Amino acid sequence: MRCRPFSRRTRSIWSRARRTTGRLALNNNFDGNGAIEVARGERAIVVVPEIPRDGSRRSAEARLEEAEGLAEAIGIEVVNERAFRVRTVRPATLLGKGQVDEVAQLAKDSSAGLLIVDSPLTPVQQKNLEEEAGTKVIDRTGLILEIFGERAATAEGRLQVELAHLDYQAGRLVRSWTHLERQRGGFGFLGGPGETQIEADRRMIRDRMARIRRELEQVKRTRSLHRDRRQRAPWPVIALVGYTNAGKSTLFNRLTGEDVFAENLLFATLDPTMRDIRLPGFDKAILSDTVGFVSDLPTELIAAFRATLEEVRSADLLVHVRNMAHPDREAQREDVEDVLVSLGLGEEGTPPRLETWNKVDLLPAEERERLGEEAKRRDDVVPVSALTGEGLEELRAKMAEKLRIGEQVHQIRLSASEGGKIAWLHSRGEVLDQRIADEEVELQVRLSPDNWARFQALESA
Ligand code: GTP
Repeated sequence: MRCRPFSRRTRSIWSRARRTTGRLALNNNFDGNGAIEVARGERAIVVVPEIPRDGSRRSAEARLEEAEGLAEAIGIEVVNERAFRVRTVRPATLLGKGQVDEVAQLAKDSSAGLLIVDSPLTPVQQKNLEEEAGTKVIDRTGLILEIFGERAATAEGRLQVELAHLDYQAGRLVRSWTHLERQRGGFGFLGGPGETQIEADRRMIRDRMARIRRELEQVKRTRSLHRDRRQRAPWPVIALVGYTNAGKSTLFNRLTGEDVFAENLLFATLDPTMRDIRLPGFDKAILSDTVGFVSDLPTELIAAFRATLEEVRSADLLVHVRNMAHPDREAQREDVEDVLVSLGLGEEGTPPRLETWNKVDLLPAEERERLGEEAKRRDDVVPVSALTGEGLEELRAKMAEKLRIGEQVHQIRLSASEGGKIAWLHSRGEVLDQRIADEEVELQVRLSPDNWARFQALESA
């Protein structure tokens, strides 16, 4: 058991997180009468249960820090935190009796109104902990859902998050709130006489979920139209993926010269952002910034990643941005790989990959040198600092090189009047030879497989 007071870093992030004021609904604790409201600035205690059989890849220290970051991402003030070794899980409260008492005392001493548990809690555990600790309780899934709820910017992102949220609420309702069951008066439109409150709530959630699914279908159809249009557009797409806070947005800004929201707040980016990027030998390419991943991503939220991940799946190159200064960098890499695999983005048939070893400016000189040497021996890694700009030209060169993999020379004959297509071939491929005879132009062009496919699509359009 260990205790760490909140740090100076926490406070500085906290002051930034306050930008938005107002009240925040923590909907995870659905009691049939509506959601519990938690104010931004709510004082909270973070508890990390260390359960040996979980086989967690990360240290308690790192988990505490991450949970603290997650809380701060939605303006909750972490006033105290603790890691507990849980040898035997107590089904009623997850934590042991003594541990719960300790948490209750801690909450009282630090006037905390919220307890954040960095593990999934069953609805019963949540309810019991609330009673015994005398605070509201939110688990890791609930917390991540809240962040996503705040950050989703596109219509689709918002709908996906709401769907995940409802799914989560429905689970709580079904499994735990039966003690709240009571007869509701028969108003007719929500259910016949005799329908219990719990059934009515459940039905409301189900109806809302069905409505969202229909809306999502519509949004998806529109998006896939847009994507088809872009797919035919003659530019390769590069997608950035990575663990939350790895530096994707900072790198994105550096590479595109754009000012995307990059802050030391987890999940600052939720919806995919796309911008032009300059690469050697390419007239133009498109860079796509995506949502940050996190370990133990709630399954309800996997769907919320779809919008982003469809961009990833149809990308020509996948760049995995890693924070090499993080003590858990290997665990984070595995987490990102796991999420990619669980979303059907394993190695087979997916875009080529590149790893960007970011934040090297934070590493001691010897470590930096060692990584530099290792990167030289491999062809899929580039050490960079998105902050100082170090290594970015190498990264651009490597991205261009990867995009060119599998290029082939094609003989193409076009009518001289097809100036647009000829210009396209010049911008996307390397024109090795061009001859004009009569009304025809014969070109010898080196093209990537994707560009060859795009050109064929142009031809048949
Ligand atoms: P999510 O939106 O949570 O997925 O985060 P992200 O991966 O987009 O990270 P972001 O770019 O927001 O960066 C997170 C923090 O790391 C910010 O405070 C950045 O200034 C910092 N950062 C990013 N790259 C570097 C780097 O190369 N060196 C250092 N020292 N800090 C960096």
